[in-house]
Amino acid sequence: MKTISYGRQFIDEDDIKTVIETLKSDYMTQGPKIKEFEDKVAEYHSCKYAVAFCNGTAALHAAYYAVGLEKGDEFITSPITFAASGNGGLYLGGVSKFVDIDKDTYNIDISKLSEAITEKTKVITPVSLAGYPVDLKAIREIIEKTGKNIKIIHDAAHAIGAKRDGRNIVDYADVTILSFHPVKHVTTGEGGMVLTNNEEYYKKLCLFRTHGITKNPYELEENQGAWYYEMQDLGYNYRITDMQCALGITQMNKLNRSIYKRNQIAKFYEEQLKDIEWLKLPLRYFSKDWLAEEKYKDLKEKPENLNSYHLFPILLENAEERKRFFDYMRENNIFVQVHYIPLHLMPYYRKKFGFKKGDFPVAENYYSREVSLPMYPTLTKEELEYIIKVIKKFRI
Ligand SMILES: Cc1ncc(COP(=O)(O)O)c(C=O)c1O
Repeated sequence: MKTISYGRQFIDEDDIKTVIETLKSDYMTQGPKIKEFEDKVAEYHSCKYAVAFCNGTAALHAAYYAVGLEKGDEFITSPITFAASGNGGLYLGGVSKFVDIDKDTYNIDISKLSEAITEKTKVITPVSLAGYPVDLKAIREIIEKTGKNIKIIHDAAHAIGAKRDGRNIVDYADVTILSFHPVKHVTTGEGGMVLTNNEEYYKKLCLFRTHGITKNPYELEENQGAWYYEMQDLGYNYRITDMQCALGITQMNKLNRSIYKRNQIAKFYEEQLKDIEWLKLPLRYFSKDWLAEEKYKDLKEKPENLNSYHLFPILLENAEERKRFFDYMRENNIFVQVHYIPLHLMPYYRKKFGFKKGDFPVAENYYSREVSLPMYPTLTKEELEYIIKVIKKFRI
């Protein structure tokens, strides 16, 4: 039997055709496909501006820059996330702080946020882990109560298309970032994007992506001729190519279907695994079974609350059982994964900032028990049934 991975891309003939067409066009990079992709993602999220990057990590770096994080400023994120959520701030000399996770949603524990905010806090970077939409409104309200000028970078690398109380991933955030790595819902091979409704941030993001250089005649300090450009700040070459954006456009056409399928798979897992007492299922964000309603079929319409299920994280009883289960699943060709090793326990973070075991006990407990089951839209009925059969035999 072939290996079933925890996530994988879905590429169809449309995707292949569009990439080939772009290869034959005049532009491999810095051409029209980039804006077309950006507009498509911006429109999907009812957002004014989108800037595409060569990966989600570059998008995060640019996001921290755009909101004005500087050396010595503190930023707060969740310890259960991929390294990039924090690294983006570290590249600019920021100081990493964490707030523990909520034991049920696995997102940052909003009730502990106020006590972590200091005079130096500049940014909060909540992560919608696994596609479960973090409560950005509550975070915004906490910031407003402090009266401080703290910005929100929503790391929505897992949560494209998710909704909470009718609001989408850009609402209440200053900037929102996406990743287009192959295991994500929409892929460009490598790729990322920043979404914002703020024009000043938009301009900074464009500058940062291309060496800090502008050619816009309205932004130049002087204009020596049609060839003239200026490097106005220190930026990077974080550009994405036209071939990638062409792929992103056709991938976006399949996004609603992908989220719908992922929700169907989540429902299947829930129904099949709900009676197993040694396994904890992830929290369902939505209470009613919207999948049964015709108007939501393939997300023709979107329900008020929508988990986009990048991952399906389950918890075992303890660390020993998790290791045994992980190895057992892999022996059975089911390539499960663990998301994530707490960021504060990474050697770099421990040595640089003095974090230690025990600092964020809920996150550490979650990590010690977590396994992500396969979750991607092309999982077949046979594969899903096989996964369930193998899980059910674990303790027999
Ligand atoms: C939560 C989170 N943020 C950011 C990133 C970075 O994205 P990329 O891999 O596109 O650089 C990832 C990638 O896996 C992620 O999972």
